[in-house]
Amino acid sequence: MKRAHINRKRSFPIIFVSISAAILIFILILSHHKPSNSSSPSSNSINPDSLALPDLPRFAYFISGTSGDSRRLKRLLQALYHPRNYYLLHLDLEASEAERLELAKYAKSEAVMRGFKNVMVMGKGNLVTPKGPTMMASTLHAIAILLKQAKRWDWFVNLGASDYPIMPQDDILHIFSYLPRDLNFIEHTSDFGWKENQRAKPIIIDPGLYHSKKSGVFWAKEKRSLPASFKLFTGSAWVVLSRSFLEFCIWGWDNLPRTLLMYYTNFLSSPEGYFHTVVCNHKHYQNTTVNHDLHYMKWDDPPKEHPTNLTIEHFDNMVQSGAPFAHKIAENDSILDRIDRELLKRSNGQFTPGGWCLGSYGLKKDPCMVYGSADAIRPSLSSKRLEKLVAQLLDSDNFRSKQCK
Ligand SMILES: *[C@@H]1O[C@H](CO)[C@@H](O)[C@H](O)[C@H]1NC(C)=O
Ligand SMILES: *[C@@H]1O[C@H](CO)[C@@H](O)[C@H](O)[C@H]1NC(C)=O
Ligand SMILES: *[C@@H]1O[C@H](CO)[C@@H](O)[C@H](O)[C@H]1NC(C)=O
Repeated sequence: MKRAHINRKRSFPIIFVSISAAILIFILILSHHKPSNSSSPSSNSINPDSLALPDLPRFAYFISGTSGDSRRLKRLLQALYHPRNYYLLHLDLEASEAERLELAKYAKSEAVMRGFKNVMVMGKGNLVTPKGPTMMASTLHAIAILLKQAKRWDWFVNLGASDYPIMPQDDILHIFSYLPRDLNFIEHTSDFGWKENQRAKPIIIDPGLYHSKKSGVFWAKEKRSLPASFKLFTGSAWVVLSRSFLEFCIWGWDNLPRTLLMYYTNFLSSPEGYFHTVVCNHKHYQNTTVNHDLHYMKWDDPPKEHPTNLTIEHFDNMVQSGAPFAHKIAENDSILDRIDRELLKRSNGQFTPGGWCLGSYGLKKDPCMVYGSADAIRPSLSSKRLEKLVAQLLDSDNFRSKQCK
């Protein structure tokens, strides 16, 4: 605990420094107005130990894959693991029951995960197709499970088998501890082309649809499908969403999430628009959006439609981006080994070490097999890069002007 304190103090982010600068000015003003007979020494100097560090958050990760992905999910989980967080793993219906069982067995076999009880594997696969409604249903199902089973967490993060963290969890937890818990990191843009291009994606029968005998498909009855006041948004399928926003989406006391879900279920590529459209059509939540998905990606050039596979040549740019995650990386690509070695300091088959790991380093044995408090964190240089990215995103020139436009 003590060690964590010392370690965290070493890398106070700018955000915090500016807050303490404000406090300092405030205190100086106060002491200036004090009567001159007051000679308390502590009123003129700030003892940094008296400024409490903000509480560390917790993340709820949803990691999903398909047939043949269990090896990658296992490596991803080892790289991402931290006792503070929750992890829900999911293999879709394409994967065999045997593969799902193997993944569940792995999660049970790790003494650390058993000890902290923070890894779950979904027993039944959902049918997941990238365009269909089922991908959204699967994500919402996962969020509902995490809300019910994992009691306390602050942000939900979805990742797939071709994602990888590029900094230790200690760094991410450290920087996020300074952020308001209601921020939603969701990359989005207003979808101007939707009327022409995307309206007619036929799938399910609904009174708002009609059947075209000629083409054998269902089409939207223009006016009834979506109130004209809604504006559609699209963006990255990778999100870091606040618990409060997701409770709003799942518990459904407001009709907005449900109305839009029915609409998306019938027509659109849901993971790249559903949360974006819900968050931006609500007057409170639109003010909580940060227009970034916290992933480093490189797009094909042209036509900029698909992210390219990241390789070792992207390493330096990837690190400089300050993003906590990278997408997408092919299985066993050598960039993964370099990330493990240089950024995560993780050996093959072991956890990414952090302040919670108390065993000796450099031995064959995983230093995290001997563990201490989950509150002990030891941020590395990566936290500085994330801090810089977050400070840019929350900069007053950037933040409000990029919300839901
Ligand atoms: C959202 O932000 C805008 C602009 O900063 C402000 O005018 C508006 O009142 C805010 N809405 C809510 C619900 O906080
Ligand atoms: C990216 O990697 C995958 C293997 O994971 C491969 O199937 C695909 O062809 C690669 N894409 C490109 C553009 O090289
Ligand atoms: C990745 O490595 C594992 C273990 O070395 C191997 O079994 C697997 O076939 C490899 N996958 C690919 C796509 O090369």
